[in-house]
Amino acid sequence: MILIDKLTKRFGPFTAVNELSFQVAPGEVLGFLGPNGAGKSTTMKMVAGFLAPTSGTIAVFGHNVVDQPLKAKQMIGYLPEGAPSYGDMSTYDFLRFIGQVRKLNASDLANRLDAVVQQLSLQSVLHQPIDTLSKGFRRRVGLAQAILHDPKVLILDEPTDGLDPNQKHEVRRLIQNLSHDKIVIVSTHILEEVAAVCSRAIIISGGRLLADETPAALEARSRFHGAITLELAESAGAYPLLSRLPEVANSELSGPTQSRIVLFPKPGSNLFGSVNRMVHQHGWHVQEMHVERGQLDEVFRTITQGAAQ
Ligand SMILES: Nc1ncnc2c1ncn2[C@@H]1O[C@H](COP(=O)(O)OP(=O)(O)O)[C@@H](O)[C@H]1O
Ligand SMILES: [Mg+2]
Repeated sequence: MILIDKLTKRFGPFTAVNELSFQVAPGEVLGFLGPNGAGKSTTMKMVAGFLAPTSGTIAVFGHNVVDQPLKAKQMIGYLPEGAPSYGDMSTYDFLRFIGQVRKLNASDLANRLDAVVQQLSLQSVLHQPIDTLSKGFRRRVGLAQAILHDPKVLILDEPTDGLDPNQKHEVRRLIQNLSHDKIVIVSTHILEEVAAVCSRAIIISGGRLLADETPAALEARSRFHGAITLELAESAGAYPLLSRLPEVANSELSGPTQSRIVLFPKPGSNLFGSVNRMVHQHGWHVQEMHVERGQLDEVFRTITQGAAQ
């Protein structure tokens, strides 16, 4: 369990992290969200023991990060932003070096090296200098060093940033596979990532906590939650009729040709049933129709812009 209480970091007069409190339990994948400069990396550095807090406390499975740094760090694997490593070392030498720094004994080190090389599919680049690896491989080497000592806590700072879509997908799959028995804290500003891998999301902005919810609960905060979007061959004629259904609170036309109808439901109404009946009655040709779960990027903008004002 990680307990964070009133964590604060000041750089001179500037407060980067402001009385942040939250807890994370094993099995949770916590998405750490916020615009650039929100204080995500600063918070993660403090939890990982790389930066001393100005005030507040961090306890990792009962070990205070400031008072018992070694005990806390033994439980933590950390992938800093950009996955820095020693570029002139080969993948194998770098991982072995990390294992020695972590004080793994020779047989544990050999076993763990085998395991992470398998897990991250690093066989083909084991003896290549890290500087010569592709971005995707370099990121995997970074993840490998973070999990080498099989830590209970994984802190990953923007692990998919700058990767192509296939590499992003792969890193997300790895995070999901790693997360069963661990605490994973992963920062991102890609909202789809939160819905894809996180069981919980924290939004911070200006160093303050603004939301702490499941991705589904965040989506439910969207004004699009439960809205019905449809495109009909007869959109222009259908729109006035659909928008006057008694279950509709609000409606709009969108899309490049204004042919996409968005209907926002009155709370608790069965809008889908009524829309469906009307479409059938008129024999309209449906090109697309779906019920929105909610738009995370819209919620994110509302929450973080509201705080900035
Ligand atoms: N060592 C530092 N000295 C001064 N200001 C810093 C330092 N590190 C970070 N900051 C500032 O703290 C704020 C939060 O930064 P950071 O934690 O990196 O945000 P994020 O990771 O959410 O983008 C930013 O305004 C950044 O400029
Ligand atoms: Mg950052």
